[in-house]
Amino acid sequence: MKKHNIEFSLNGEKVALEVEPSDVLLDVLRGRLGIKSPKVGCDRGDCGTCTILMNGKTMRSCLALAVEADGADLVTLEGANSRKWTQKLQKKFHEKNAFQCGFCAPGIILSATELLEKNSKPTAHDIKEAIAGNLCRCTGYEPIVAAIEETVKGK
Ligand code: FES
Ligand code: FES
Repeated sequence: MKKHNIEFSLNGEKVALEVEPSDVLLDVLRGRLGIKSPKVGCDRGDCGTCTILMNGKTMRSCLALAVEADGADLVTLEGANSRKWTQKLQKKFHEKNAFQCGFCAPGIILSATELLEKNSKPTAHDIKEAIAGNLCRCTGYEPIVAAIEETVKGK
């Protein structure tokens, strides 16, 4: 099958690659570009562990083909520290021990980043909605929601 040449920005750096039409973006990020924060969970769009930002919006990289990233601005947790809210969120989650195994953490931090970039005064309901697509098998979500609320309040 004919290969495609694609280019995109990844965490602020330009990337040029030749990909197969069927290559999945998550596999390319992890397998070819060494980006390990998006995880392989369900591999079918249900769990959110593969979440990245594409053009400022969260997306599930297990459901995207690499060719869809052509021309896009991609940000993973590795490069998200330049965003104001990501740094604050990571600090607060660490302080509060809000994660346990951490498998869900990159996806949840990016979903919360997207929320706070759009709405810096979210309600608990807004927060729950924003992270509804990110499964956490360990925490019961309460410490996660609390950490996001405390990040917003700057406590
Ligand atoms: S691995 Fe992509 S949503 Fe689960
Ligand atoms: S902390 Fe383990 S899945 Fe969320």
